[in-house]
Order: sequence, then structure tokens, then C-alpha cells
Amino acid sequence: MTGQYRITLLPGDGIGPEIMSVTVELLKVIGEKFNIQFDFTEAVIGGAAIDATGEPLPAKTLEICRNSDAVLLAAIGGYKWDNLPRHQRPETGLLGLRAGLGLFANLRPATIFPQLVDASTLKREVVEGVDVMVVRELTGGIYFGQPKGIFATETGQKRGVNTMGYTEAEIDRIAKVGFETAQKRSGKLCSVDKANVLDVSQLWRDRVTNMAQEYPDVELSHLYVDNAAMQLVRAPKQFDTIVTGNLFGDILSDISAMLTGSIGMLPSASLGADGPGLFEPVHGSAPDIAGQNKANPLAMVLSAAMMLRYELNQPQAANSIEKAVSQVLERGDRTGDIMSEGMNLLGCTAMGEALIEVIKIQ
Ligand code: IPM
Ligand code: MG
Repeated sequence: MTGQYRITLLPGDGIGPEIMSVTVELLKVIGEKFNIQFDFTEAVIGGAAIDATGEPLPAKTLEICRNSDAVLLAAIGGYKWDNLPRHQRPETGLLGLRAGLGLFANLRPATIFPQLVDASTLKREVVEGVDVMVVRELTGGIYFGQPKGIFATETGQKRGVNTMGYTEAEIDRIAKVGFETAQKRSGKLCSVDKANVLDVSQLWRDRVTNMAQEYPDVELSHLYVDNAAMQLVRAPKQFDTIVTGNLFGDILSDISAMLTGSIGMLPSASLGADGPGLFEPVHGSAPDIAGQNKANPLAMVLSAAMMLRYELNQPQAANSIEKAVSQVLERGDRTGDIMSEGMNLLGCTAMGEALIEVIKIQ
């Protein structure tokens, strides 16, 4: 046995259970091939947890996650729960999980698959070869800052408030992940902020600049977030690693995901200082196609590969999954979201079977 791991499975809502079940079947095959034992425990989160327990992140789910080596999450949310008060919404469960596990660093790679270049809405020459890693701060900033809420004012008007704040320590720990990630890649780091307007961003920029002295091998640049958004669409290949705060990272990671043609292809890893990491696709729960066996499981499967690489230190198993994804694309297998003329249209389960088939003969 090269490893034995407790994995918490959080299938969540919408297409979540379908893509999770494909991923679990695949991991069983990977386990046999690489002599790894996975002990899976399933728990509820999001809408599924609201229906079962009345809250989006039951204490028991958090406890199961804390007691595991890694957590796989598929997707949360759906129309059914959209009008609940904020503390009961599925998204609140996800934010609680990130905070509860201390997952301050979110890695979102946007890599274009050569087979899918034409699926991008941008020109081939703009996106071919794109390989960007967004390092997003995940447990601070405007998502969590106090005060927050909707307050009555003296004029009788309500006022909605959120607060964007970062302490030096919060900036330093995510900047470090940014520099180290850049070191492992091409050595280029772009820090994104809004220092021309926001004080919180000025502190961010000062700390990141300061830390650059410790990483003389990393070439650091700074961009304002509006310019960064524009540059990502205009000339994405100028970027390698981007480090940014929670809200800007949320937005920029959707933009960089779309450069690759389909958000259905992109995985993510959320890591803390210690304890289990959380691995989830960048896409959402796609309630419009839920339960129809149409979902693309590849981002979920690639999230499991990130788990094997970043958390469980099983790079060969991770490579095998990533290679299998390339192989099925190469032979023309496609789910609806990445379908193009002349390719084989597969459902979610058939795509999972295709992956297993190629893994067995790799
Ligand atoms: C993401 C999502 C979440 C976020 C939502 C679902 C809370 O958009 O992971 O990017 O805003 O962080
Ligand atoms: Mg988002």
C-alpha cells in the first residue's frame, strides 16, 4: 500500500451527485492501479443539507471534514434555495466550510486543452497555450469583513454594508503562496489590487512589494483589477501566476476560466496552513441540467487529481488522471458543453467510463 486516506465526499446539489459518483468510481480504479486505499465518507452541504437538517453546513459535516485527509466537494446551490435568508443559503455553507477549515489559499488553474482551443469564444491565436494560475485569498476581504449587513438609517432608507479589510498577516500568508507558486511555475507573479482607490489595496501592494525581496528569482508586477480584467481578455498569455484578494479573485478566476472555452473543465484546490484541503470544480451546480446525465465531470475529476498532487502527495496517480482526460479528449469524446462537430457526444456516466477505459490501458 502506498497510502491510505480518509476522503470526505460532499456531493451537494444540482449536478453535484452525478459528477461526484463518476469521480468516486474513477478513484477506485486509480486506487487499484497505484495501490492506494481511499476510505470515503459522504456528508451533506448546501441545499441538500438545508433539506435534511435546516442548515447549509451542519456541525457534523464540518467535523467529518476536519477528521479527514482531504475533502472533495462537487457543487452547491439551486433555484429552490435562492430566496432563503442569507444565513440559510447554500453559499453560506460553502463560506462556512472554507472558514471552518482555515482554507485561505485558493488555487485556480486555467489551462487550455489543445483539443478544445476552438471552444473558446476568443481567437485561437489569443488563447492557444494559455496557462494561468490564479491564487485567490479565500477567508478574508470583503466576503468576511465586519461590519456587514443591511441597516436602517436615520432617513428611513436601508443601507447595505460590507467591509473590505486585510491585516498584514493575512496579506503576507497569501503573498507567500503566490510567490512559491510562481517559483514552481515560470517565475512570474502579478499581484492584482485597486491601490489607486482602496486603502486596503495600498497595504496589500506595500506588503507584496516588501516580500519580493525574499524571492529574487520571481519577477513581480502589479496591476489594478480593472486593467487586469482587460489584459486577461486582450492578451492572456502575458500572465503566469496571479495573486489577489477574495472578491477580485472570484471575478478574475471566472474570466480566466472562460478563456479556456468551458468552465466545465477547471478544477480548484483550497489549502490552509494545516488540516485537510478542499478540492472542487470552479463551476457551479448547473440546476438546469441536473439529473439528466448531461454534466461534464472533467472539472470534478481534475479536482481529484489536484487532491492527489497537492494534498496526498501522489503525483503519479494525479498524472494518470490528467493524462486520461487528455486521452479521451484526443479520441473525440465530449460532453454537451464542449461538443463540436464530428465529435462523440457522451453523457456524464459514459464520460466516466471512457476515463476508466483509458486509465486501465495506460
Ligand atoms: C466561487 C463561487 C463562490 C464564491 C460562491 C458560490 C459563494 O462563486 O467559488 O467562486 O463567491 O466564492
Ligand atoms: Mg465565483
